[in-house]
Amino acid sequence: MAPSLATLLATASILSFFALFPKAASHDTLSLGSSLRVESYQTNILQSSDGTFSSGFYEIYTNAFTFSIWYSKAANKTIVWSANPDRPVHARRSAITLRKDGTMVLTDYDGTVMWQTDGNFTKVQHAHLLNTGNLVIKDSRGNTVWQSFDSPTDTFLPTQHITDTTKLVPTTQSHSPGNYIFRFSDLSALSLIYHVPEVSDIYWPDPDQFLYQEGRNQYNSTRLGILSDNGMLGSSDFADGQPLVASDAGPSIKRRLTLDPDGNLRLYSLNDSDGSWSVSMVAMSQPCNIHGLCGPSGICHYSPKPICSCPPGYVMRNPGNWTEGCMASVNITCDHYDKKSMKFVKLPNTEFWGSDQKHRLSVSFHTCRNICISDCTCKGFQYKEGTGSCYPKAYLFSGRTYPTRDVRTIYLKLPIRVSVSNVVIPHSTVFDSVLRHLDCDQMNKSIREPFPDVHKTGGGESKWFYFYGFIAAFFVVEVSFISFAWFFVLRRELRPSELWAAEEGYKVMTSNFRRYSYRELVKATRKFKVELGKGGSGTVYKGALEDDRQVAVKKLENVKQGKEEFQAELSVIGRINHMNLVRIWGFCSEGSHRLLVSEYVENGSLANILFNDKNNILLDWKGRFNIALGVAKGLAYLHHECLEWVIHCDVKPGNILLDENFEPKITDFGLAKLLNRGEPNQNVSHVRGTLGYIAPEWVSGLPITAKVDVYSYGVVLLELLSGTRVSELVEGSEEVHNMLRKLVRMLSEKLEGEEQSWIDEFVDSKLDRPFNYVQAGTLIKLAVSCLEEDRSKRPTMEYIVKTLLEADD
Ligand SMILES: *[C@@H]1O[C@H](CO)[C@@H](O)[C@H](O)[C@H]1NC(C)=O
Ligand SMILES: *[C@@H]1O[C@H](CO)[C@@H](O)[C@H](O)[C@H]1NC(C)=O
Ligand SMILES: *[C@@H]1O[C@H](CO)[C@@H](O)[C@H](O)[C@H]1NC(C)=O
Ligand SMILES: *[C@@H]1O[C@H](CO)[C@@H](O)[C@H](O)[C@H]1NC(C)=O
Ligand SMILES: *[C@@H]1O[C@H](CO)[C@@H](O)[C@H](O)[C@H]1NC(C)=O
Ligand SMILES: *[C@@H]1O[C@H](CO)[C@@H](O)[C@H](O)[C@H]1NC(C)=O
Ligand SMILES: *[C@@H]1O[C@H](CO)[C@@H](O)[C@H](O)[C@H]1NC(C)=O
Repeated sequence: MAPSLATLLATASILSFFALFPKAASHDTLSLGSSLRVESYQTNILQSSDGTFSSGFYEIYTNAFTFSIWYSKAANKTIVWSANPDRPVHARRSAITLRKDGTMVLTDYDGTVMWQTDGNFTKVQHAHLLNTGNLVIKDSRGNTVWQSFDSPTDTFLPTQHITDTTKLVPTTQSHSPGNYIFRFSDLSALSLIYHVPEVSDIYWPDPDQFLYQEGRNQYNSTRLGILSDNGMLGSSDFADGQPLVASDAGPSIKRRLTLDPDGNLRLYSLNDSDGSWSVSMVAMSQPCNIHGLCGPSGICHYSPKPICSCPPGYVMRNPGNWTEGCMASVNITCDHYDKKSMKFVKLPNTEFWGSDQKHRLSVSFHTCRNICISDCTCKGFQYKEGTGSCYPKAYLFSGRTYPTRDVRTIYLKLPIRVSVSNVVIPHSTVFDSVLRHLDCDQMNKSIREPFPDVHKTGGGESKWFYFYGFIAAFFVVEVSFISFAWFFVLRRELRPSELWAAEEGYKVMTSNFRRYSYRELVKATRKFKVELGKGGSGTVYKGALEDDRQVAVKKLENVKQGKEEFQAELSVIGRINHMNLVRIWGFCSEGSHRLLVSEYVENGSLANILFNDKNNILLDWKGRFNIALGVAKGLAYLHHECLEWVIHCDVKPGNILLDENFEPKITDFGLAKLLNRGEPNQNVSHVRGTLGYIAPEWVSGLPITAKVDVYSYGVVLLELLSGTRVSELVEGSEEVHNMLRKLVRMLSEKLEGEEQSWIDEFVDSKLDRPFNYVQAGTLIKLAVSCLEEDRSKRPTMEYIVKTLLEADD
């Protein structure tokens, strides 16, 4: 069991307690009035009593010295603290002195004070280098009046406290401070920040996620972190007090936590035998997610190693050094700005994070383009089809390309005379084939792991593994909170802010995904009294939680997975959140019980409303069209936007629930993975899709792709239009699939003809006429294309959403 932060802190204080009574040693103390001189920098040093750390003058280059503390046993002196990291002193007459008044002062050759301890010092006795690497100044009563641990440079050492006021800044090769900061953010989250005059933004934890999703608790403002001797990094904002754990966690290894000049935070372990350092934990496993890595206007992409490139029309400002990024090869002067001489170049799957001049939602591409082109300072804009969200950019910072398709698109503004016809647009070439290899029963590949776990990447068979593999080769990570944190809520790739999320229809979380005890659920459902429905995966009961939330509790049957596997799967499903997907609030996994707790959806299933003559709800045309659109949005989200690329595998009216406004919510997504994985001879109709809705490739045994859901969606469209089950739609007793093929052939022939009256016959006679013929035509066309035998000819759900949005006016 990993120790909590409290334990780590206790260990730390015991260590510092012992540190108050050092063994008598000659070299670890600088007494009042004495100095270390730069001339004898090789011998005149302090050494901690166990020899681990040394302190003295360190030659950073000829005739330039810092007063530093370093690991003595590292092959090359590894600096862990410096008084003057970016203001070196000369090789002559410089000295560090513990003055009689108690201040410690670093003077340059001419006596200039380059650095000094500040504070209120009385009765100071000596300065003392502890075995922890902490240089402390103590008064006569043994109290510490100053310590180097309070003003770290680029490194935290075990037992050192990360507090509200401490921060790390990397030291660059040229001994100037880097553009990165590691500290507690304003939200009290331990953060990595890219900080330059134009922008200052957090890139760890992931700014496109809620803190909860990143395993953080944003309601603990204690602001205290600590690295233990065992290699565990704890912080007051880590959910459930769970520390991050080094891959080589354990005692008696010398460690350091360093913010490196590349903006990555790494935990290093020292190899005692050869004095080399190896990485045992890293904050950013995907380097392109580090902001500013390629400088202003630069783009980071994977090929598959991460590299920097300039966008079309831009050139590197300082060849050989990406810190300064790229600049436009032709300057746009705002004095004589002529918007007619501007054009846009599309950069697919690319984003420049932040620097939005405006937010516009539901605007046309043309409007967005106009906003940017009429403002000289706009460098380009991000536009998203479907939602019509528009983000004109003032700066092009933190550029990166996504390895997945259709994620974010940037339109870069360039003067017309800049030719880009032969310019290669930066792109990432890692994951191209991933989607094609998914299988509803085999979707357990570690795609969902945001951090690679080195122990699991051993196989290295897929491109994902390759991708993570190259990172793991350098950075070994084991992040325990990923696998099972209750604060996991949802993983939506692309939302820069909660506001945006809310506006786009993604509900902002108010309550946490959690585990329920069986007793709680027995109580909530009043001993499983009210049955809502029964399906292949189990029986659903109605219930009410203690906070009066109405829920549906599903008793899963046929779950053969062990507890941990089940919980891991659930932590994925529990993070999915979209207004057209049923919200999963939590689950129960006790003994043989496996239950899912999800939101209760008022109006029951679409199947019940559409096909059950006994109910007297009639869906009007608008309602049906809205259901078609909502279901498409939900599936598009599962297929394209959530990180896991969930294939539903059982899309049918029975799995589409309608809320009080008849807004559709898809249920049972993700269950394909939970039930009967890998067991032969399962009843196909239960486990993998439902007869009548399953795509032909199920039967022929081809690998399963998201296109199976597109096929089933096509069937649902036909049923929504006709108000009849497909199996009852065509007369005769042939196999459902053959009947469907005939129906589709007939529909596509009729679609080609001029005559329209057949639409009237096809559409549900219960509907008031006239209904919207154009929309009906669009739905039929979509249904026909969804039901293509050749799955590559079926459209994607994103395309369907786009088409429906265009028809929805
Ligand atoms: C310094 O310490 C003395 C004795 O503890 C106290 O009286 C004095 O106010 C302190 N001065 C400052 C500036 O904190
Ligand atoms: C790159 O340029 C920046 C600022 O211009 C400078 O601080 C840094 O040291 C340079 N890096 C290298 C490797 O030359
Ligand atoms: C905040 O975190 C600290 C350290 O883990 C813990 O001791 C404290 O109880 C937490 N406070 C709250 C309000 O959760
Ligand atoms: C330490 O270095 C030695 C010599 O390079 C190597 O043989 C040994 O495996 C290393 N130990 C660890 C724990 O990496
Ligand atoms: C020490 O530094 C030298 C020169 O920078 C380098 O070649 C060597 O690999 C380093 N040794 C270790 C163990 O890091
Ligand atoms: C663009 O303007 C900047 C600053 O005004 C200047 O340094 C740069 O050389 C100019 N670039 C070109 C290609 O004219
Ligand atoms: C994924 O499933 C396959 C077959 O069901 C199994 O062999 C493999 O171990 C699983 N992998 C993981 C990471 O669970």
